[in-house]
Amino acid sequence: MEPFRTIIEPFRIKSVEPFALSTREHRQECLEKAGFNLFALHAADVMIDLLTDSGTGAMSAEQWAAMMRGDESYAGSPSFYRFEAAVKELFPFRHVIPTHQGRAAEKILFSVIGGTGKTIPNNTHFDTTRANVEFTGAEAVDCLIPEGRVASSTHPFKGNMDLVALDRLVADRGRQNVPAVFVTVTNNSGGGQPVSLENLRGVRAICDRHRVPLFLDGCRFAENAWFIHEREPGQSGRKVRDIVRELGSLFDGMTMSAKKDGLSNIGGWLAVNDDELARKCRNLLILTEGFPTYGGLAGRDLEAIAQGLREVVQHDYLRYRISSTGYLGEALTRLGVPVVQPIGGHAVYLDARALLPQVPPLEYPGQALAVELYLEGGVRGCEIGTVMFGRQRDGTEKPAAMDLVRLALPRRTYTQSHVDYVIEVVDRVAQRAGKLRGLCIASEPPALRHFSATFTPA
Ligand code: F0G
Repeated sequence: MEPFRTIIEPFRIKSVEPFALSTREHRQECLEKAGFNLFALHAADVMIDLLTDSGTGAMSAEQWAAMMRGDESYAGSPSFYRFEAAVKELFPFRHVIPTHQGRAAEKILFSVIGGTGKTIPNNTHFDTTRANVEFTGAEAVDCLIPEGRVASSTHPFKGNMDLVALDRLVADRGRQNVPAVFVTVTNNSGGGQPVSLENLRGVRAICDRHRVPLFLDGCRFAENAWFIHEREPGQSGRKVRDIVRELGSLFDGMTMSAKKDGLSNIGGWLAVNDDELARKCRNLLILTEGFPTYGGLAGRDLEAIAQGLREVVQHDYLRYRISSTGYLGEALTRLGVPVVQPIGGHAVYLDARALLPQVPPLEYPGQALAVELYLEGGVRGCEIGTVMFGRQRDGTEKPAAMDLVRLALPRRTYTQSHVDYVIEVVDRVAQRAGKLRGLCIASEPPALRHFSATFTPA
């Protein structure tokens, strides 16, 4: 039988959160007040918020119920043990250390294993990972397959590690200078693209040969496992839960932001097998995050994550999740809007440089497009391009590799008609894209300028 064309959300809505339908005039005023930086908007002035999929999803009734069970004991809370059991059901690492979010796990781990002269390879470091590696004086190196850098390439696993480059890098730097190899699933900075099991086994073999530990940045592990289920030969008959367990078993440890595939609004963890490493990390955890059975989280947050981890590997959920992202990306592709192919798991990435060829990279086509989408329909996306990456350490500025606008879909939050509305908004802006002008930076901070820079129309 033909499958239905309509994406049926595998949930119904029990509690609604109204948002105001604003006017274009109001949005113009808001933009001016915000210095044309969408991070400076009040969220109440946004209609469809696609800034991030991190911590912005809707929780299930079972998660809200679990929160009432949250036990706030400082030490040894039953909520911690439920959280730990849920993590270990998917990722059976010996030590599971809760943190308030992903970057806290990164900060702790790299404080222990990083330092000057060290190198951490990854398929692509996410910004916070790179920043936490570099903060210790270590070098963060990306070893992505070449297809992963080509917006139009339709390789099914564009997040894969370049095994030859990785092997050469580890050999060049020496195993004593590579305290860990990382793999990020899915590859957020590269368009939400998955990594195959076969590739992960190859990475594992290289790490074994050089005797270097292998770590997972697992933020979107369930979405990655769904792509493996759908695309990797021999995997379609398996349960996603089993694919996740096999994936996890290839690693020596992981960092995680539960704000993504933990289906929670806050939280994360660091997990490791090595007892000595765990001891050092727990000592740092106590310094900044909290006691090892809560790690900066409330007991109720631990409960929400434990339940979220059970829900996120369900096939009905993942089929809906990945097909709704695909629905947005494919509709835009049909309308002739240039988007990164194939469509990733959590977001659609618009190619602003291709859509606004009249705007030079140093007038920020991504920012211009993101601003226009907000003005047109109250849709907030995020520039990932020259505003984010253009400022160099020596103070000069150069165009980023790509100028993209990421439309990230919060989990279980917007319906198909919200997405249809977004498609209309992007289409209208795309039709007059040739007339859009760029922006100049009016003020910027010394680092991470995309969060607080202000702009004026060029
Ligand atoms: N690793 C990846 C791949 C991420 O996407 C993120 C967060 C982190 C680590 C850090 O986790 O936010 O809990 O500290 N990504 C968000 C985003 C912020 O919008 O893509 P965190």
